Amino acid sequence: MNPDFRSWVLATVTLLVVFLILADISELEEEIGSTGGSGTIRSAAGNVHSKSNRAELILNNSSTSSTAGRSNESIKYRTKPVPYIWRHNQTLALKIRKQILHFLDAERDISVLKGTLKPGDIIHYVFDRDSTMNISKNLYELLPRTSPLKNKHFKTCAIVGNSGILLNSGCGKEIDSHDFVIRCNLAPVEEYAKDVGTKTNLVTMNPSVVQRAFEDLVNDTWKDKFLQRLKSLNESILWIPAFMAKGGEERVEWVNDLIIKHHINVHTAYPSLRLLHAVRGYWLTNKVHIKRPTTGILMYTLATRFCNRIYLYGFWPFPRDLHQNPVKYHYYDSLKYGYTSQAGPHAMPLEFKALKNLHLQGALKLNVGECEAAT
Ligand SMILES: *[C@@H]1O[C@H](CO)[C@@H](O)[C@H](O)[C@H]1NC(C)=O
Ligand SMILES: *[C@@H]1O[C@H](CO)[C@@H](O)[C@H](O)[C@H]1NC(C)=O
Ligand SMILES: *[C@@H]1O[C@H](CO)[C@@H](O)[C@H](O)[C@H]1NC(C)=O
Ligand SMILES: *[C@@H]1O[C@H](CO)[C@@H](O)[C@H](O)[C@H]1NC(C)=O
Ligand SMILES: *[C@@H]1O[C@H](CO)[C@@H](O)[C@H](O)[C@H]1NC(C)=O
Ligand SMILES: *[C@@H]1O[C@H](CO)[C@@H](O)[C@H](O)[C@H]1NC(C)=O
Ligand SMILES: *[C@@H]1O[C@H](CO)[C@@H](O)[C@H](O)[C@H]1NC(C)=O
Repeated sequence: MNPDFRSWVLATVTLLVVFLILADISELEEEIGSTGGSGTIRSAAGNVHSKSNRAELILNNSSTSSTAGRSNESIKYRTKPVPYIWRHNQTLALKIRKQILHFLDAERDISVLKGTLKPGDIIHYVFDRDSTMNISKNLYELLPRTSPLKNKHFKTCAIVGNSGILLNSGCGKEIDSHDFVIRCNLAPVEEYAKDVGTKTNLVTMNPSVVQRAFEDLVNDTWKDKFLQRLKSLNESILWIPAFMAKGGEERVEWVNDLIIKHHINVHTAYPSLRLLHAVRGYWLTNKVHIKRPTTGILMYTLATRFCNRIYLYGFWPFPRDLHQNPVKYHYYDSLKYGYTSQAGPHAMPLEFKALKNLHLQGALKLNVGECEAAT
C-alpha cells in the first residue's frame, strides 16, 4: 500500500469507529434526554448519588456548553428527577453467573490442575493443535492442586486493561478500593499508580512479555528487573497462558525456573482448553463469536463466578477518546494499534461492544473516563 492510501484508509476507519461510538453515545443520550452539557448531569447526579453510580460512558463535555446554557441545564436537572445513571442490576448479574456456570467448571476454571497431568506428558497447544509441548518437571511442580479461586467470593472486583485511556484518569485509588483486582500482562503499576493503582490479586502474563518488556532476560540487569517484578506480585495469582500458542515454551520455562529458584511467593495458574471452550460456549449463546478471546472478555467471564459486581477499567480499543484526543494503545509502552488488521488475533471492538452492552444493562461497569477522588 502506498502511504497516501494507507493514511486515507486509516482516516476512514478512524472516522467510522468514531461514528459508531458516537452513534452509540447518542442512543445513550437519548435515554438521558440530554442535548449536551452532560458535565452538568454528572455534577447534578453527583449531588444525589455516589460517584460510582454515574455513567462514565456519557460524553462529558459535548458540543456547546456556554455558561448560560449550563446554568439552564442544571436548573433543568435539579427540577427533573433522575437523569441516566448507571445502576448495578443484581438480578441480571446473577442470571449471567448462572448461565456461565453451565459452561465453566468452578473447580478447574482458572488453571490446569496437578492431578490431571504428570511430568513428561505431551499436550497439544490450544490454538496450534498440530504442535505439542512437554510438561516439564518445573511446570508440573507449579501446577496448583486446587483452583486458587476455589470457594472465593468478593463483593467487588476490578478488571484493569492496559489501554492508554487510563493515563490521567486518576483511577488508581478507586481501582485499589475493590476487593479483588485483576490485571493484564504484567503491566507496570508503580510508575502509574495514580492512574492505575497498585493492588494486584491476579495478573496475567503472556510468555511474550518476557521478550517485549524484559528483553528475553539477556543479561543480569534484565533478569533482575524481571525478578523484582515477580517479587512485587506478593502472593497474587500469576496466570500464564502456557498451553495456548506455541513459541513461548522456552520463556515459560525461564519464568518457572526463576519462580522456583527464588521461592517467589505467587500462586501460579495455567489456563486450559476447557476455559477457552467455556468462554466461547457462553458467548456463543449470546451470539458473540469469539475465536481468541481478549483478556478482557476472558477475565470478565471468569470473574462472574466469584465477583458480585465487576468494574472494568482501561478497556478502550480505539485510537481516540470521547473528546477526540489520541489514546495510546497501552498506557505504558509505545505499541501501536493493530486491531484494524484482519490478521490480528483479537476482535477487540466486537468484544468491547459486548461489554458495553452489559454496561448499559447494569451487569458490569465499564469506566472509560476519569475517576474522581472519593470525597
Ligand atoms: C467533565 O466536566 C466536569 C465539569 O465540567 C469537569 O470538572 C471534569 O473534569 C470533566 N471530566 C472529563 C472526563 O472531561
Ligand atoms: C468543556 O468545554 C469547554 C468549552 O466548550 C472547554 O473550555 C473546556 O475545556 C471543556 N472541558 C473539558 C473537560 O473538556
Ligand atoms: C437560559 O437562562 C437565561 C437566563 O439565565 C434565559 O434568558 C434563557 O432564555 C434560558 N434559555 C433556555 C433555553 O431556557
Ligand atoms: C435487571 O435485569 C433483569 C433480568 O435481565 C430484568 O428483567 C430487569 O428488568 C432489570 N432491571 C432493571 C432495573 O433494569
Ligand atoms: C519430551 O521430553 C522427552 C524426554 O524428556 C523427549 O524425549 C521428547 O523429545 C520431548 N518432546 C518434545 C515435543 O519436546
Ligand atoms: C544489559 O543490557 C542492557 C541493554 O539491553 C544494558 O543497558 C545493560 O548495561 C546490560 N547490563 C549488564 C549487566 O550487562
Ligand atoms: C503483601 O501482601 C501482604 C498481605 O497479603 C501485605 O500485608 C503487604 O503489605 C504486601 N506487600 C506489598 C509490598 O504489597
